[in-house]
Amino acid sequence: MKVFMKNRTFKEMFTGRKNVLDMLEQDHKEIMGLFKTFRKMTEEGAPPSEKDALVKKACAALLLHTRLEEEIFYPAVRRAAGGNDMLDEAMVEHSQARAHIDELLEMLPGEALHDAKFIVLGEHIRNHIREEEDQIFPMAEDYNVNLDAIGREMEKRRAEIEEEMGAAVFDEKSIPLVSAYEKTRMTDEGGIV
Ligand SMILES: [Fe+2]
Ligand SMILES: [Fe+2]
Repeated sequence: MKVFMKNRTFKEMFTGRKNVLDMLEQDHKEIMGLFKTFRKMTEEGAPPSEKDALVKKACAALLLHTRLEEEIFYPAVRRAAGGNDMLDEAMVEHSQARAHIDELLEMLPGEALHDAKFIVLGEHIRNHIREEEDQIFPMAEDYNVNLDAIGREMEKRRAEIEEEMGAAVFDEKSIPLVSAYEKTRMTDEGGIV
């Protein structure tokens, strides 16, 4: 287990508070969960409209997450660690992800290569997340970034950006679609619901 996880788990158990690394890691889990759900939906022939709701949700979550990292987390690590190749590369990967998302959102659900484009985006994001968690997160701890203070700052900024990006993007509309699909799948597989 990584060192930063040990510290955070211990602290979280006693304070119930999340620091910036906990929050980013939680985002990573949720985002990768959406890519995983998309794969299942594709394998099981879910309708394009349902998959599109999930694609839009994942893209919105990624846009929010990368923005928070660029506005709050990366600058804090850079201030502590100085110029850093890892952070520069992560910024380039973010900008590639945004270009990828722009192209994806211009496509129609069901259009040729739409699904492949989303799946490839997920592969790039998985690699990016691995580098962040394995290299940038430990660096934030090694250089004594104030993870709690940055976490509070990020929480506040998250609410502002969500408002700015528009409630329509972040409302719960897409969730019932996904849940309805999961429910159907579970019923088909073994009558769990
Ligand atoms: Fe990132
Ligand atoms: Fe991240």
